[in-house]
Amino acid sequence: MSHIALVTGAGQGLGQHFCASLLRAGYSVAITDLNLEAAQACAHQLDPGGERTLALQLDAGSKADFEAGLDQVLARFGALNVVVNNAAVTKTTPLMQISPEEFDAVVGLNLRSVFLGCQVLGAYMAETGYGRIINMASLAGQNGGTATGAHYAASKGGIVTLTKIFAKEFAARGVTVNAIAPGPIESAAVRAAIPVERLPGLLANIPVQRLGDADFLGDLIVQLARPDAYFTTGATWDVNGGLFMR
Ligand SMILES: NC(=O)c1ccc[n+]([C@@H]2O[C@H](COP(=O)([O-])OP(=O)(O)OC[C@H]3O[C@@H](n4cnc5c(N)ncnc54)[C@H](O)[C@@H]3O)[C@@H](O)[C@H]2O)c1
Repeated sequence: MSHIALVTGAGQGLGQHFCASLLRAGYSVAITDLNLEAAQACAHQLDPGGERTLALQLDAGSKADFEAGLDQVLARFGALNVVVNNAAVTKTTPLMQISPEEFDAVVGLNLRSVFLGCQVLGAYMAETGYGRIINMASLAGQNGGTATGAHYAASKGGIVTLTKIFAKEFAARGVTVNAIAPGPIESAAVRAAIPVERLPGLLANIPVQRLGDADFLGDLIVQLARPDAYFTTGATWDVNGGLFMR
């Protein structure tokens, strides 16, 4: 079994940690982002010699970009086994101030990127008889969110649903599809969304009283990517410090 992964939106933030975890676990990784320079910088930082990384510009809202990205990964590494649909736009606009255009832009990109990643790359992996897809959802998609906007939260709820639908579609062909729903993780996006004076209040509301750890999420991705993770599919894995208990 080859170990080839592709991560979307990996030029900054959690995506970088996920690429680092996959590289540590022995994967070769296509580090993709809308921002090519950020993807290249991430690849250079994680793999200065470039032996096990491929930086690609991939607009996760574009089916043509997923198709071209797949071709480039196959040309470079010869296979693709693991996909992390991580790209998203995070907005915190108050509910009653969200314009129709901003609503469409956030929901459109966040849902469409997971839809296309599962459809295009999932179809390829299903043909090979093996694959692992991990979609980044969010606690916001389960409880409506705390700091993030309604459009973001609604899109993340939709990702949980898409995960189940694609999991059923691919289940008999060796491809699992799972989602991870993190609460607030120590990351630039959370620091940007939460003004520093609101941070103590946020932490006080988290039962474990700490932000989550990005590298733990990366290790969870590696676990879900293992061949012997075949029995978990269509699931949403909660990593939220106790903020939401089923
Ligand atoms: N940070 C958190 O605490 C947290 C919590 C819950 C869920 N998440 C989810 O984890 C994922 C990563 O979050 P993050 O904090 O690293 O976000 P981030 O905003 O720091 O990074 C998002 C990345 O996606 C890229 N991107 C944006 N639009 C794109 C497009 N059209 N095509 C390709 N790439 C695009 C950006 O360039 C950026 O590199 C997201 O799906 C987010 O919703 C994060």
